[in-house]
Amino acid sequence: MPSPHVLSRTEGAVRVLTLSRVEKKNAFTSAMYAALNEELAIVDSDPSVRVVLFEGAGGVFTAGNDLTDFMANPPSGEDSPVFRFLMHLVDLTKPLVVAVDGPAIGIGTTLLLHADYVVATREARLQMPFINLGLSPEGGSSLLLPRIVGQTRASEWLMFAEPIDAERAREAGLINAVVAKEELAAFAMARATFLASKPPGSVQLAKHLLREPLRAELKAVIAREGVHFVERLGSAEAAEAFQAFFTRKR
Ligand code: COA
Repeated sequence: MPSPHVLSRTEGAVRVLTLSRVEKKNAFTSAMYAALNEELAIVDSDPSVRVVLFEGAGGVFTAGNDLTDFMANPPSGEDSPVFRFLMHLVDLTKPLVVAVDGPAIGIGTTLLLHADYVVATREARLQMPFINLGLSPEGGSSLLLPRIVGQTRASEWLMFAEPIDAERAREAGLINAVVAKEELAAFAMARATFLASKPPGSVQLAKHLLREPLRAELKAVIAREGVHFVERLGSAEAAEAFQAFFTRKR
């Protein structure tokens, strides 16, 4: 079902998916994951779409999972919209370009691990605060993050769970380019359009060859992480941390 918080448009051969729930910092609800799943299924079967571009509205990429929605509708397993979204990312045949501005928290950072090209503004702040929230790493991050940024940084980023600025993420290899805020949209679209101008069969084959060696293992890791994550959502540590977030806000 479409969601008012996921906007989509097509520019040439680029399908643009925009997270647009600005009043809640584009935090993901299950309805948003469900809408994205439908979009990604269409994108993958439509030959006129050559590249997918993800972005967030209002100077924010996303505050990650909506903590209220998460408590009210905890993901129950492999049929849950968030789990299916992660599997869609793993199986996506079209290249994924992501434009990041402002906070990119939780899955806002871990989904970047599945992207083929990431551009961020100098104001981008990545963070995987799973530990702070009494939770555990998700999205395949326990496998992909050490491969991309190295074990040392992966341990620090997942266990100390502090914000990471764009330049640091670029140096570590998680982000391809850092641009000024006002350049982000045009830069991301130019990269996506450039990629879309190349022979699509060859681009998709390159993506397949790059991703295939880890695909089965990655899916197993995401499933295993998911079991722990759901368990942790029911833990006293998580309840206390979630409560602290909302109390601080009040
Ligand atoms: N879940 C639910 N609500 C969220 C949210 C989330 N992940 N992130 C932000 N919100 C809500 C806030 O509660 C607030 O709602 P209110 O206006 O009804 O009080 C609104 O979005 C704006 O957020 P606010 O915190 O006031 O904005 P900010 O600019 O001060 O900070 C963030 C932005 C993203 C740094 C901060 O909101 C944050 O840390 N969010 C939680 C991130 C997180 O832990 N995500 C889960 C990862 S698993």
